[in-house]
Amino acid sequence: TDSKKEKLIKVHVDTAELFHHVLLNTKVGEEALQYLLDRGLTRELIETFNIGFAPAERTMLYQYLSGKEYDQTLLSETGLFVERDNGELLDRFYNRIMFPIRNQQGKTIAFSGRIFKVEPTDGKAAPKYLNSPETYLFNKRNVLFNYDLARANIRREKEVILFEGFMDVIASWDAGVKNGVASMGTSLTNEQIHMLDRVTDHVLIAYDGDNAGIEATKRAVDLLSEETHFDLDVLSLNEGLDPDEFIHKYGAASYKEMLAHGRDTVFAFKMRYYRKGINLQNESERLAYIEVILNELLTITSAVEREVYLKQLSVEFDISLDSLNTQYHQLYEQKR
Ligand code: CTP
Ligand code: MN
Ligand code: MN
Ligand code: MN
Ligand code: MN
Repeated sequence: TDSKKEKLIKVHVDTAELFHHVLLNTKVGEEALQYLLDRGLTRELIETFNIGFAPAERTMLYQYLSGKEYDQTLLSETGLFVERDNGELLDRFYNRIMFPIRNQQGKTIAFSGRIFKVEPTDGKAAPKYLNSPETYLFNKRNVLFNYDLARANIRREKEVILFEGFMDVIASWDAGVKNGVASMGTSLTNEQIHMLDRVTDHVLIAYDGDNAGIEATKRAVDLLSEETHFDLDVLSLNEGLDPDEFIHKYGAASYKEMLAHGRDTVFAFKMRYYRKGINLQNESERLAYIEVILNELLTITSAVEREVYLKQLSVEFDISLDSLNTQYHQLYEQKR
C-alpha cells in the first residue's frame, strides 16, 4: 500500500473532524451553523456530508495537527496550508464553511470552503468557493463530488444526475434524490465521464438555470454525446434557478415531479438553446435557425423521433412538412 497516501488521508480525516466539531459545538462556529440552518440544511445533512467550519484566525488547524506529531513536510504537502516567506505554515482555509471532498472509497482527500459572511464579489480576492490545490491526493479531474455515496443509488435508479454544485447535491439528497454528483463548476473531464460510464448509461444533466449553467449544459451535452451509448436528458429550470434554489422555492415534491416528467430531450434542449437571441421575425435569421436545427436532426437516429421534430418545426414556422423533408434530405446527402 501507498503509505504516503494513507498519511495524507489521515491528515484530511483529522482536519474534517476538527472543522465539523468547530461548526457544531463551538461559539466561533455558531454564525456559520446558523447560516447553514437558514439555508435549510438539517443537522442530519451536516452529519451526512461532514460539513465543518474553519475559523477566522489562521493558526487553528496548524496547531491542532502539529499536536498530533505530523511532520512539517507532510503537512505542507496536504495543500491545507500556505507557506509564508519565513517558512511558517498558515491555514489556507479560514472563515469558511468547509465541505469535505471524498474519493471513490469515501475518504476525504480535499476541501472546498464557502465564504458566507460577505456576499461574494466578482473580484478574485475572495472567491465564493475556495478549493484545495492539486496535491498528491487530489486531482480535480478524477473527482466527482458525492460519487462514493451516490454510486449504489445510481445503479439502483439506473441513472446519474449531474449537478454543478455542492448545495445542489446536498439539497437533492435531502429531498430523497440520492443519485446525484457534482462536477464542481468546471467543464466535465474525460476521467469524470468514465466514472459515470462505469455505473450507468443514463445521465440527467441538471445544471443551473442561469446563463452560465445553460452554456455549461451545452458543453456537457456535447462531451457526453461523443460517448454514443449514453442516454441523455436535460433538466431545464426556469427563472435562472439552480436545483437547490428550486427545492427551497417550490418544495421537494415539485422538484421530484420535474425530475420525473419535466425533462427535456437533448434535442428539445438544443432547439431552445439555439433559439436564444434569434429574431424569428427576421427571415434570414429564421432560415439560419431552421438549418441549424435540421443539421442537429441529422444526429438523431430514430426516424420516429425525427418525424416528431420535423412536424413540430413545420407547425412552428408554418413551412410544409414536404419542404422540410426535402431540405433535410439535401443536408443528409451533403453530410454523407
Ligand atoms: N465553484 C468553485 N469556485 C467558485 C465558484 C463555484 O469551485 N468560485 C464550484 C463549486 O463547486 C460550486 C459550483 O462551482 O458548488 C457551482 O457554482 P455556483 O452555481 O456559483 O455555486 P452554488 O453551487 O450555487 O453555491 P451556493 O448555492 O452556495 O451559492
Ligand atoms: Mn439504457
Ligand atoms: Mn452556477
Ligand atoms: Mn448554483
Ligand atoms: Mn446555489
